[in-house]
Amino acid sequence: MSFECIKKYEDNYDKYVLIATSDKIVLPDYLSKENKKLAETIIKKNKFTAKSSEKISMTLVNNKKIIDFIIIGLGEKKKLDAKNIRQYLFDGLKNITGNVFLSFANKDLDDIDVIAEVVEHINYKFDKYLSKKKEEFLKVSYLTDKKVPKLIEGYELAKISNIVKDLVNEQAEVLTPKELADRTVKLGKEFGFDVEILDEKKAQKLGMNAYLSVARAAHHRPYVIVMRYKGDAKSKYTYGLVGKGLTYDTGGLSLKPTDSMLTMRCDMGGAATMIGTMCAVAKMKLKKNVTCVVAACENSIGPNAYRPGDVLTAMNGKTIEVTNTDAEGRLTLADALTYIVRKEKVNEVIDAATLTGAIMIALGEDVTGVFTNDDKMAKKIIDASENWNEYFWQMPMFDIYKKNLKSPYADMQNTGVRWGGSTNAAKFLEEFVDETKWVHLDIAGTAWASGANPYYTQKGATGQVFRTVYSYLKDNKN
Ligand code: BES
Ligand code: MN
Ligand code: ZN
Repeated sequence: MSFECIKKYEDNYDKYVLIATSDKIVLPDYLSKENKKLAETIIKKNKFTAKSSEKISMTLVNNKKIIDFIIIGLGEKKKLDAKNIRQYLFDGLKNITGNVFLSFANKDLDDIDVIAEVVEHINYKFDKYLSKKKEEFLKVSYLTDKKVPKLIEGYELAKISNIVKDLVNEQAEVLTPKELADRTVKLGKEFGFDVEILDEKKAQKLGMNAYLSVARAAHHRPYVIVMRYKGDAKSKYTYGLVGKGLTYDTGGLSLKPTDSMLTMRCDMGGAATMIGTMCAVAKMKLKKNVTCVVAACENSIGPNAYRPGDVLTAMNGKTIEVTNTDAEGRLTLADALTYIVRKEKVNEVIDAATLTGAIMIALGEDVTGVFTNDDKMAKKIIDASENWNEYFWQMPMFDIYKKNLKSPYADMQNTGVRWGGSTNAAKFLEEFVDETKWVHLDIAGTAWASGANPYYTQKGATGQVFRTVYSYLKDNKN
């Protein structure tokens, strides 16, 4: 446990941290009168004014014990909001380790959710393959007089975010489709949702040929993972979630160059996002019915690989000319979408997918692309993202883009022209949702941080986006 709430001061911690705004630094009463005076002098001498992310440390002798006393600044109170307070806390706490006693100078800013979440994020590391591991760890005991809920949402979501990160960071040799299925079964038991696994034969019977073509050449066989959570037996409304689950994407015969391939274990980021959403929905016991589908597989090469020029018949009967085997995600999603709207009969569907490099060209690494056939639904999801340090942006879906997918041999092709690549992909997916309300989230940029990223300690998996999907489900009426 990296975080717990406590009701009163105790003098057996390694470090004492006070969070303060620049309006007025009110020193805590656990400091003796003399120490308060001393601290005030040190603060003045160092011209410390608790500006955002500013920090000061001092060593004091309090109750005959030597203590490290640290103040972390948040800047002006009126400039604080849910997003920047997270960032400033993160910046202030990220290099502190040990048992920390933490309190707020401004009682009204005391937000258990945010602080718990930040601590959990700071402690995340994927060090499984390092022979020398860092042992330091931040453990926060948090002084609050507020009533503490049994489940602190921010903390639970942060822990789930770390599960999502672990799934994405794990190498493809370990996290195969089978392993992803097995881990999902375990998570289902732990968090409280049902998991059904469909093997290749069952997928064949269902006619999921577009998906199975992508999976064909890989040594690691494909598995469809179906998750069901019934939180409201009285309601007939079921939310649908679909995640792209490519445990590795070599590009297939349209092989990727090494540099682009290097991080392609992240190509099940959409699956991890939606599995994380299921964990959150079940953990927080939302009164909703949610079904989630991941058609997991690996896009590999070999004598049995599908080829550019092949024509596939998808589960919904539409034919697709493969013009590039590296546009595989949409082929797997096509059948996953058909499966969830036709077999599971969900009332609406959200998919998350590391679908196109083009979305990173358009929006960068910190913004998720939103595509939809229902603007109202998209708006609600974008609104939900504003609760978190997450950024979503809606992209165009004009039918004019459809001409880019024309094929002389089949109903459509899977690639289209280079320009407008992310919308071409989304227009392709739209062909597989029938009339169902649908939002597609292109997370190729946001699932993975290639370098310095202010809110994450390690580069690699970011573990974001699922929080927004969870918030959307939580706040929605149905
Ligand atoms: N998995 C990739 C997209 C991707 C790129 C994810 C970078 C994360 C980071 C996807 O399968 C892909 O290869 N897309 C192609 C589509 C193209 C062939 C039409 C792309 O973006 O180049
Ligand atoms: Mn690809
Ligand atoms: Zn891919």
